This record gives sequence, structure tokens and C-alpha cells, in this order.
Amino acid sequence: MHPTEHDHIRVGVGSFSGELKRIADEVGNVLNFRLLVIVRQDHGVAFLAELIDRRDECGVRAHRGPLGQDGTSLEVALTSLRVAIAGDLHGDWGDRDAELIERLQPDALLFVGDLSDGDLRLVKSITQLSLPVAVLLGNHDRGRDRSGALLQQQISMLGDRHCPWRLRAWSQPALAVVGARPCSAGGGFHLSQAVQAVFGPITEAQSAEWIAGAAREAPSSWPLVVLAHSGPTGLGSEANSPCGRDWKQPHIDWGDRDLAIALDRMQQSRPADLVVFGHMHHQLKGRNGERITFHRDRRGTCFVNAACVPRIGLDDSGRPLHHLTWVEFSGTKASLVSHRWYRPSGELSYEQTLHRAAKSEQAPC
Ligand SMILES: [Fe+2]
Repeated sequence: MHPTEHDHIRVGVGSFSGELKRIADEVGNVLNFRLLVIVRQDHGVAFLAELIDRRDECGVRAHRGPLGQDGTSLEVALTSLRVAIAGDLHGDWGDRDAELIERLQPDALLFVGDLSDGDLRLVKSITQLSLPVAVLLGNHDRGRDRSGALLQQQISMLGDRHCPWRLRAWSQPALAVVGARPCSAGGGFHLSQAVQAVFGPITEAQSAEWIAGAAREAPSSWPLVVLAHSGPTGLGSEANSPCGRDWKQPHIDWGDRDLAIALDRMQQSRPADLVVFGHMHHQLKGRNGERITFHRDRRGTCFVNAACVPRIGLDDSGRPLHHLTWVEFSGTKASLVSHRWYRPSGELSYEQTLHRAAKSEQAPC
């Protein structure tokens, strides 16, 4: 259950009633924008002027707080879809991260795998998050266990949250996530013993078709996100390419072929809006610079590598900073993609903007 559902009446488009519907329709007509209305106690119409003042923001930031001039506690959020992505954790996930997510309240949280090397306590903490979560496990998650038993334990604990070759979708927020091949170590196509033990022998063609097939089930009007551990081939062969092999000469494209085939097939019907992955850590071997972490192709699909490792660091004052990749959507298109470093309090300390859509590309507001 989403945290906003605990203590608010949450009304999404399509379920308005009574006066609330009338107010929402008025606001919707004025702003011509998707509307999320959250009401705490009483409500009125005094907030309209304030909403109109916020029109320029185009819903990129949700607005929260009391708005009624008569002291009532009307809370309205005008928002685009906001998705947080936790790159390879490698054990860096704890209570402070859960609290940070609680403060930021993204609409969904995606994990690209390499949670740890099989730490079941960490997996359990992910299952206790109270917002929409999707996970695709990484090559490290099998630990040293080649039998697949440790991997299977984590898959069982995650339940529906783990979505290999499968569509995971929510209507509120309207978001479709398709998982790619789990536990990939990149390099084209290779199945580890543990993966074969759990999922059986799988061919590259099967994997590609399963990914593309899951994507075909996604509602066409919802943002379509492909969640992978390793990114696809085709994003470059340099050491600093989003999936470039940096640890060994020659530097080559180390992406997944089956994912590239699936994405290519999807373009015949509906291209992915966002492909998010990890595995190839941002810092290059030998501290030889930083990886390119974003690419947008000519069809508008955004590719982002979220693997900032370690994802928890210290600033110059020795205070902790937590990394999240952050994506906001306007309609089905990504309007903002950035790497963000937060203090545990929720304060945004630093942001590296990777993509911001031109106003003309955004849904009308
Ligand atoms: Fe990793």
C-alpha cells in the first residue's frame, strides 16, 4: 500500500465523487493537467489561485501542505509520475534509506539488482517498503552459491516485486515495468549455473521474446519502463560507454544482446520510454574517470545507468549522502532524468541533470 493511502482519502482520475469531483473538474479544466487530489479534513476552493500560480512548474514538483485560506487542511498535489531508482546497492541499504524514501514519496521505487551477495535481511527490508516496488536481481545476488538455492530464497521473499521477463504494473500510479533477464553479468548472453538451476536452460532468442512479449501487455497510455541489471548492447564500445567494458583491453560493448533484440522488436509496436539498468559501475577501473550514464535514442527512449557505487558516501563535512537516480514523466515521456544525492533528512544536496525535456516535448499543462 502506498503511504498516502494510510491517512488520506486519495482520489485519482476516474474515481471522483460529489463536490470533490466538481472541484477537481474545475481545476482540471483550468490546468488541463493530470490531477491527483488528496483531502485530509475539510475542503474548499480557495486553493485554485495557488494552483494556477504553480502552472509554470508543469507538475514537476508535487505540492504539499495546507492550502485553504480559512485554516482548513486541504492538501493538493499536482504531479507528474516520479520514479526513484536505486542502483547496485552492494549492501548499502538501511533504515535511513527507507526513511528517505518515506520522506520523498516517489510514486514507485525500482531496484536494478546487486542488492548484496545474498543478504536475506536486506531483501526482507525491501519487502517492508510501503510503496510500489519492482526488483530485478543482479549477478552478485546469487552469492557464492552455484546451486541456485540462495537465489531462489530471495526470489521467494520478493514475490511479485521480482519481475524477470514479466510485466509489473500499477494503475495508481499508472506505470508499466517490464523486467529483463535476471542476474545478468553482461557480455552478450550468458547464464550462470545458479540462474540455470532456477530458471532452466534459456536461449538468447527465448529471453528476447519473453521480454518483448511482456512489453506487449503494457497499456499503451502508461509509461513503459524496462528494468534490467545489465543494459543492452548498442550503447557504445568505449571504456566509458554506458555498458562499456572498462576493466580489460580491448574496451568493448559489454551489454546484453537479448535485451537489445527485445528493445528492437518493441520498436515495431511501441518503444520503451525508459530503460534503466546497473551492473557497470559509474567509476571506471583505476579511477580512470566516470562512465557516461545516459543516452537518448532517436525514438526518444531514455537509457540510464543507475549504478553509482558505493551509493552512500560522505560530503566534505563528513555528512552522509545517499544516491538515487530520479525520473519524472510528463505523460509517457521522461521529462527529467537525474542523479541525485540526498541527505537522510530528505534534503537534496546535489543533482546531476542528465535530461530535461524541452517544454514543447512535455504534455500540455
Ligand atoms: Fe554491481
